[in-house]
Amino acid sequence: MKKILIIGATSAIAEATARLHAEDGDRLALIARNESHLEAVAQDLRQRGAESVSSFVMDANDFARHEEVLAAADESLGGIDFALIAHGTLPDQELCERSAQSMRDEFSTNCTSTLSLVTVLANMLEPRGAGSIGVITSVAGDRGRASNYVYGAAKGAVGLFLGGLRNRLHGSGVHVLTIKPGFVDTPMTADFSKGPLWATPSVIAKGIRSAQKRRRDVVHLPGFWLMIMLLIRLIPERIFKRLSI
Ligand SMILES: NC(=O)c1ccc[n+]([C@@H]2O[C@H](COP(=O)([O-])OP(=O)(O)OC[C@H]3O[C@@H](n4cnc5c(N)ncnc54)[C@H](OP(=O)(O)O)[C@@H]3O)[C@@H](O)[C@H]2O)c1
Repeated sequence: MKKILIIGATSAIAEATARLHAEDGDRLALIARNESHLEAVAQDLRQRGAESVSSFVMDANDFARHEEVLAAADESLGGIDFALIAHGTLPDQELCERSAQSMRDEFSTNCTSTLSLVTVLANMLEPRGAGSIGVITSVAGDRGRASNYVYGAAKGAVGLFLGGLRNRLHGSGVHVLTIKPGFVDTPMTADFSKGPLWATPSVIAKGIRSAQKRRRDVVHLPGFWLMIMLLIRLIPERIFKRLSI
């Protein structure tokens, strides 16, 4: 039995990951902002075999509550084996170009709130010398593009932060996992037309669980995105800036 904390637990990818843990009979603590959706997810996980499921309502941008809510979730679990941070939004890029306030709000949701939560979690786990922290970033964070650079910059900054944290915690016993999905068919991408590069939340969930068990550092999910992003990063900036991708 493992003790699993999931922040952004109503996300489709988070829910698919939580289901795998419920089927293993793990103990779960869930944090999300939508109380009725959160309760529905919790009830489903109980029926799927979770040893216990506790839930906590919190908006990730409510920074003043991060320490208190994470401490309560930790107490309900009796410790944390794996904490997954999954919340996020896909910003309206054009709105963020017109409005610096919108850009800051999106950056807060997709970057600063995550960095705050990760900092609290790291400081909880480091003295215990055990546990994993997994954070869902995105392949969008690997290179800035005109169509989504607010989202990409936020995810990229989280990835850089996690690299530093991993370096800090190396040797401490605490594992830090950066999860970079490509296109995933979830409510976040409901308006996109889908194609062969798209994955389901359950495929990503299996990848997250496997990467966490193997104590990987950084994973692209599905794995073929590693090659795609390597090629995209190889394009010289003087050419890349002219492309519309
Ligand atoms: N779908 C993709 O193609 C894709 C690709 C790469 C990375 N990702 C990342 O994967 C993660 C999960 O997204 P998803 O695809 O599973 O989409 P999703 O089902 O739309 O989930 C997004 C979740 O984030 C929550 N959220 C947003 N703002 C929040 C806030 N301020 N406080 C608390 N919760 C908040 C949403 O809660 P509400 O339901 O209450 O709004 C929702 O549960 C995100 O970090 C996303 O950026 C997704």
